[in-house]
Amino acid sequence: MNPKIRNALGLVCVALAVFGCTKAVIIEPDSGGSINRIIKYDPDMQAIMFTHCITCHGGSAPSAGISLTTYQNTRFQTEEGKLLDRINNESMPMPPSGLISPEERQIIAKWVSDGYLEQ
Ligand code: HEC
Repeated sequence: MNPKIRNALGLVCVALAVFGCTKAVIIEPDSGGSINRIIKYDPDMQAIMFTHCITCHGGSAPSAGISLTTYQNTRFQTEEGKLLDRINNESMPMPPSGLISPEERQIIAKWVSDGYLEQ
């Protein structure tokens, strides 16, 4: 085999080996057990969504068709959608700029375990 082709094939194999192993790094969300107050959508969850999410997931053409401006939508994306996966996904985080703080992610986990209270 032509050595140039062999080297090129070798590089492709190395690239596959390296990138093939890159898995999504999902951090196990804290259950929020360290938070000793009841978490409600209004004000806690709403504040996090408005601070970190609605610049893209709001308005008339929200990213991915997902609006996070209301209780119903936020609850639906948390219960049925990928909200929890993505806020705890280090390799594909939401917001895309990087994970929100551990405290904020604990508040979201506690909102779930407290039963999605509205207010
Ligand atoms: C800078 C814009 C931007 C911000 C800020 C942002 N998102 Fe997103 N979001 C996107 C885009 C673009 C997509 C579609 C592409 C993708 O899934 O990565 C998306 C997709 C999603 C999805 C669907 C994922 C799936 O796999 O179905 C969820 C859920 C989500 N975002 C939640 C959030 C939450 C919660 C926040 C705030 C904590 C947030 N996003 C902040 C731009 C943003």
